[in-house]
Amino acid sequence: MNYTVMMPAAGSGQRMGAGYNKLFLKLDDKPILIHTLDVFEGDPACEGIILAVKSDEREYIQALLEEFAIRKVTALVDGGGERQDSVAACMKVYDKDGIVLVHDAARPFIRLSVIAELVKVANEHGAAIAGVRAKDTMKYAKEGVVEQTVDRGKLWVIQTPQAFRYALLKRSSEEAQAQGFLGTDESMLVERFGQPVHIVESTYDNVKMTTQEDLLFGEILLRRRQEDFNDSHRTRF
Ligand code: C5P
Repeated sequence: MNYTVMMPAAGSGQRMGAGYNKLFLKLDDKPILIHTLDVFEGDPACEGIILAVKSDEREYIQALLEEFAIRKVTALVDGGGERQDSVAACMKVYDKDGIVLVHDAARPFIRLSVIAELVKVANEHGAAIAGVRAKDTMKYAKEGVVEQTVDRGKLWVIQTPQAFRYALLKRSSEEAQAQGFLGTDESMLVERFGQPVHIVESTYDNVKMTTQEDLLFGEILLRRRQEDFNDSHRTRF
């Protein structure tokens, strides 16, 4: 089942403290943005990528796409002030009725197996989001004082990708925009619209590169994946 990716990449990355877009920071020899795009570039089911960028970073990103031979980006659109605005800008240039996958440019470690399952479930049910089970004990607190311990068995930590039948995402997004509702992910828009959203179990290493510590973790993950790849391709004599 084929799909199109809408990828918001127009953030400022203030929490990374780099002084510029964190997506340009390098892991190994490639910017984070390119690592993320590479995943979809290598997935035959991905039909195209719509990338939301800051207008003053457009030229630099175009040059990166050339340098690293990224061919599947079909449109570069101007992102907005909030992540939701950036995704809405992507939606304006999509004119099909297929499955779309919204994925943060800052999550380079997403696995193809999770993507495939998300697309399958979204096609069946309308909406599917990646998540992992909460590992720690979770509590509600007010001003630093515990009010309640939450049943961890029902809690999920949600990531991207989030996959949707496009018509459902479009209607949910239009309603949210009309009502001035700002969500922290696209799933919230669909939930408000009253439609069920299914969770697909993802992996804990699908981290969002947000702070300096994430970069260290990212370097380790990359090295481990490279070793796994080498092991599986080593010729035995
Ligand atoms: O800031 P945060 O890490 O939550 O951003 C998640 C993703 O959304 C990043 O890939 C970032 O570039 C993107 N984003 C965007 N437009 C914004 C804010 C964030 O495209 N206004």
